[in-house]
Amino acid sequence: MKKTLITLLLIGSVIGCKNANNQQGTENSVEETSVIQSSENITDSIQVKTIQVGSEGEEIKNRFHGSYPNTVYDFINKEEEKFIQTYYDEFKEVSKNHGEDAVSRVSFGQHFEVVEQSNRFLGFLIERYTSYGNNYDVQYFTHIYDLESKQLIKFSDLFSSENEFKNVVKLIRNKTEVVLKDQLKTMDLIEDDRKAMWSNMQEQIEEGTAADEKNYHAFSWDDSGNLTIYFDKYQVASGNFGNIEVTLTPEEYKNFVLNKYQELFHIKIEEAVTSEEDDLTQTTPIESEVDCGEVPCVALTFDDGPSVYTNQLLDILKENDAKATFFVLGKSAKVQKNTLLRTFQEGHQIGNHSWEHKDLKKLSKADIETQINETNQTIKSITGKAPNVLRPPYGSFNNLVKEVANMPIILWNLDPLDWKDRDATLVAQRMSEAQPNGIVLAHDIHKSTVEAMPKVISALKKKGYHLVTIDELFAGKSLNSGQTYNKRK
Ligand code: NI
Repeated sequence: MKKTLITLLLIGSVIGCKNANNQQGTENSVEETSVIQSSENITDSIQVKTIQVGSEGEEIKNRFHGSYPNTVYDFINKEEEKFIQTYYDEFKEVSKNHGEDAVSRVSFGQHFEVVEQSNRFLGFLIERYTSYGNNYDVQYFTHIYDLESKQLIKFSDLFSSENEFKNVVKLIRNKTEVVLKDQLKTMDLIEDDRKAMWSNMQEQIEEGTAADEKNYHAFSWDDSGNLTIYFDKYQVASGNFGNIEVTLTPEEYKNFVLNKYQELFHIKIEEAVTSEEDDLTQTTPIESEVDCGEVPCVALTFDDGPSVYTNQLLDILKENDAKATFFVLGKSAKVQKNTLLRTFQEGHQIGNHSWEHKDLKKLSKADIETQINETNQTIKSITGKAPNVLRPPYGSFNNLVKEVANMPIILWNLDPLDWKDRDATLVAQRMSEAQPNGIVLAHDIHKSTVEAMPKVISALKKKGYHLVTIDELFAGKSLNSGQTYNKRK
């Protein structure tokens, strides 16, 4: 709820000093410049780390600006550090041989995007922009990590066998030829030259698309399972063809993909969700027998997920026969469909916590609508049921938010500050102080919070509380759109 983007600038420090190092000559030109390392949280489990040499303001300097992910997984961090280090070493090597005139100035850049984040996989699309004066090159790399086997998945690993990989490669080669032929047609050439050019290109296409790992270091996929392969410049054709990419539809390649990776490409999940649709009436939470007008209840609520820790929390709730309410972010629900569906099927309530945790009070009416409605639609497409309650991020709202929300606004009367104090014992103590018929705020994006839960549940049960959802807490009372609630009165 109160998650803030923490910017930890300058975790590293300025290494090297211009004046001192200038006297050492040009043996290692990188150390003449300041190297700045910084890091910034993008989610609770992923940080962006940056190595920077030279800055935009400085003219005629060789520059390096490389960002890479740092996660809660050591094996991923090792791979990513190795990966950026190789690029940085290349930069140092190249810098040595380049002068500082504008034409031959070197600029290396790397940044990344999180393309997959689920309980099973974590994936990054990495872009490198390498420029030598007036000549530049863009390269992409896809790093998908299997969190179970703790390995970086190579492209060929995705397929059932070497043979299936070769089948996919054949498909890719055919598509590449179509793309290149189309481009060739638009070029201003006489027919004979066109034919000669095409025949000259054959070898490069063959080599550039061959079933070799180095040819398939970049790929991405969309929500419908369309798979795109990105080739480097010069990989399958001469430079004037630019960066070539080809796309396969899921129908074309899905039979070659290993079962365990079907989920990754969104091939299987969609089917699973659809097939559940018939059974939704059965999995819809059963009417509670608990009457919070008669017995003391407590509604535990978890914000900002689903996250990598949500499944562990669901296990704990299940073991203890406790129900809770999850105020989820639309963007996280979208990538963690299975976790969201499980949450719903196990009888917990799903509430709306906006699409991406923006302060709704600061947004325009249209933007508030997008934040709330997109989230509702996404949740409905996964569970079959749209949320009926909203918790605005930071508990921040105004009249416009109330009006647009068109849902009751659920706040809390106990905040254990679990986002601030990542200490399971402390968080457990605080949450155990819940009042009869109160609402407790917590976050399932923090490991410590999830670890606190067995103690919390046992302490509250000892006090005679029933752990219920928001709907159960207010059963028999009316919850009105646009009104705020922090406990059952
Ligand atoms: Ni929040």
